[in-house]
Amino acid sequence: MRRFVLTLALAITVIALVPGEARSGQTWSGKDTHILRTLWIGSLPRLAKDPSNGVGDDPRAATLGQRIFFDKQFSGNGTIACATCHQPDQGFADGLPVAKGMGTTTRNTPTIIGTAHSPWFFWDGRTDSQWSQALGPMEAPTEHGGARTGFAKIVYADPAYRRMYEEIFGSMPDISDGKRFPVQAAPIDAASSRAAWNAMAAADHKTVNRIFANIGKAIAAYERLIMPGPSRFDKYVDTLLKGGDQPGKPTLSEAEIAGLRLFIGEGKCTQCHNGPLLTNNEFHNTGLSVKTKTPEDEGRARGALKVRKNPFNCLGAYSDAGDKDCAELDFIKFEGADLLARFKTPTLRNVGLTAPYMHDGQFSSLGEVLAHYNQAPDAPIGKTDILALKFSPQQLDQLRQFLLSLDSPVNVSPEYLLAPKVGAR
Ligand code: HEC
Ligand code: HEC
Repeated sequence: MRRFVLTLALAITVIALVPGEARSGQTWSGKDTHILRTLWIGSLPRLAKDPSNGVGDDPRAATLGQRIFFDKQFSGNGTIACATCHQPDQGFADGLPVAKGMGTTTRNTPTIIGTAHSPWFFWDGRTDSQWSQALGPMEAPTEHGGARTGFAKIVYADPAYRRMYEEIFGSMPDISDGKRFPVQAAPIDAASSRAAWNAMAAADHKTVNRIFANIGKAIAAYERLIMPGPSRFDKYVDTLLKGGDQPGKPTLSEAEIAGLRLFIGEGKCTQCHNGPLLTNNEFHNTGLSVKTKTPEDEGRARGALKVRKNPFNCLGAYSDAGDKDCAELDFIKFEGADLLARFKTPTLRNVGLTAPYMHDGQFSSLGEVLAHYNQAPDAPIGKTDILALKFSPQQLDQLRQFLLSLDSPVNVSPEYLLAPKVGAR
């Protein structure tokens, strides 16, 4: 009899344990829940002020910046705007392996959603603010292909632009004299633009640089509004944080949840893709193949040197920051060889919308990216930071499915996602 009772008790325990086991497969430990909370959009802090941009949070500057962002006048041939490559309906990227403006570049267009939180911009972090970043493409011959004097003159000559500009930055100096201020003058590689720039007076350089910097600051004020909204992943974490177990219909499928487990667990993805934007904003070498070795392939090793020399950096004459506000630049790392072929960890939010992938667009699908992480080949330049995953095809697919749950609409009212109507103010 005793033995029977024991056996019965054991049997009941086993029966009780089986569904418990099945459920525990779907629950998260306290440590996991903590990690999920750190990745959740609810953990995204309020965007910190950019001390180098005095108008960064001025709505009038955002309106001006939005207009320039979509305006093709701001290019060498009137056909290219920021929005040519950063298209709102393509996750603010362009769907191309490498960007095409007035020419073809060597880099993949990253999204700009949420990037205002980043301390460094471009794949190699060669600028330290979003406003100084914006000045780069405007004068790059393969992108907007224009020159700063020409851009300043557009704002000066167009009554609507001039009114908006002067409301924010004060009255514009007279730059109409074509001899003192030639249309195509800038200190860039193109020989004729450079010669025209060198022929200008030093005081006129400053006048033009100031207007050019202000154009960048207005564009940055617009970009600071472009933040990600909640994805299906975030809704899943919302429910988890509210109630432990998942009441009702979970917002992620079993495969996506399995992928999420791999992402924060065995896959060690959160070593670099962490925080609510799924990036540590640092630079890493992921052992990607290199077509032709050019200086640009050295990544952060060069970007770190460039940002120090940039006259539009946080410490420069056109920055609104005090000297103590530029800690990032003061403490910038120059580990030389250690920085070789390191590129900025991109956000993984909206990664389903921004194929192809990596700084040079070498992978056309998430499957290809994950196949690379699965093998983790030796780096052709520098040393890779990646360890081979050695996952099964099923696990790789779960990881891929999880990544797609990170897509979400931009968290801004829709009028910011279109070219504003001219004269709408
Ligand atoms: C011809 C396509 C093209 C145009 C036009 C263009 N971009 Fe980009 N953008 C890119 C590419 C490519 C990169 C990466 C370049 C690199 O890292 O070397 C980039 C990088 C960026 C980044 C950095 C994102 C990050 O995470 O570091 C921002 C912000 C950005 N662009 C905003 C702008 C703005 C503002 C304009 C207009 C003034 C603009 N872009 C014009 C293609 C373009
Ligand atoms: C050591 C840091 C590090 C780890 C670990 C890491 N990544 Fe990355 N990831 C990066 C960097 C850096 C890039 C950009 C590399 C480049 O373009 O040179 C990147 C790029 C990506 C991209 C392409 C995004 C785009 O917009 O181009 C995806 C997708 C991605 N990683 C997913 C993952 C997943 C999934 C894991 C885990 C299996 C992972 N990463 C682990 C640093 C890392």
